Amino acid sequence: MSPLSLTRTLPADATAAALRADVAEGLSRTPKQLPPKWFYDARGSALFDEITTLDAYYPTRAEREILVANADRIAAATGARTLIELGSGSSDKTRHLLRALAGLHTYLPVDVSESALRAAGEALLAEHPGLAVHALVADFQQGLVLPEAPGPRLLAFLGGTIGNLLPGERAAFLRSVHGLLAPGDALLLGTDLVKDEATLVAAYDDDRGVTAAFNKNVLEVINRELGADFDPADFDHVARWDAGEEWIEMRLRARQDLTVKIPDLDLVVPFAAGEELRTEVSAKFREDRVRTELAAAGLELTQWWTDRAGRFALSLAVRT
Ligand code: SAH
Ligand code: AVI
Repeated sequence: MSPLSLTRTLPADATAAALRADVAEGLSRTPKQLPPKWFYDARGSALFDEITTLDAYYPTRAEREILVANADRIAAATGARTLIELGSGSSDKTRHLLRALAGLHTYLPVDVSESALRAAGEALLAEHPGLAVHALVADFQQGLVLPEAPGPRLLAFLGGTIGNLLPGERAAFLRSVHGLLAPGDALLLGTDLVKDEATLVAAYDDDRGVTAAFNKNVLEVINRELGADFDPADFDHVARWDAGEEWIEMRLRARQDLTVKIPDLDLVVPFAAGEELRTEVSAKFREDRVRTELAAAGLELTQWWTDRAGRFALSLAVRT
């Protein structure tokens, strides 16, 4: 068994600079907002894994059902020798693909969370001693450059994480995926689907408060990294369905008038009672929208699978 290879594509100070820029910009604007990638320090990654075990959080179970039912078809259609996975997290559902892809040579997980990459990479190496595992600590929205690896390559983006990108970011991201794929490669994309509001809101506002803790974790990250004095108890977790945009929004709502000091940015941020900070959107899709957005990026949808209850979809797409 070869040791886990782990590469940081960005120096630590670049990540720190990106956090500073996002916090300075996002907390100075009206309404306030932050990009969701800052949830995922070691605690945030662990809290997300806990979310995936909650009864109310159906996407992980639904996507697993699709993978179990279709992994052999995905393997036959792609013949992948390299599996690249963006936002791989625990790589838990990926195991179904690894089992089915008989000719697989290399697994290349990409994530901003080094702790998640290390834990997943070590576990997968133990289960697949012949597999080359090259983990990449990188931001998949920042001009991702992948190491050489044998084709055909399958690029997986699971979990519905594409829904956490805003529409303009999503279009840019899909164009960058097009640029990463060579003829013969394929994209496997997980998207959560539009459904009734009660099911959606329950998935983002569980009664055990795990999603609330995940949401508030971004405040702890800013406290630790930028010396801020957020008190998470000053904020309520809010999950709301926006029927016009067809996305869930997670927000943090100030319980009273307060100010937060962020010494590393020389910034004092006022919050009025009831003011909300948007921390995440989680867009939900319909087949037409997935097909159209892929086509706009030069990608053709070739397969569309859903779970039996029609809650979640996996798409296979190729370069046109
Ligand atoms: N794919 C897994 C994990 C989804 S959670 C699943 O389906 O369960 C989203 C993952 O994407 C987290 O591990 C997070 O660290 C990672 N992530 C979020 N934004 C990212 C970005 N901009 N670049 C790289 N990874 C990112
Ligand atoms: C990672 N991503 C797809 C999750 C989602 O459902 O949007 C993140 C999450 N946010 C709250 N719960 C889970």
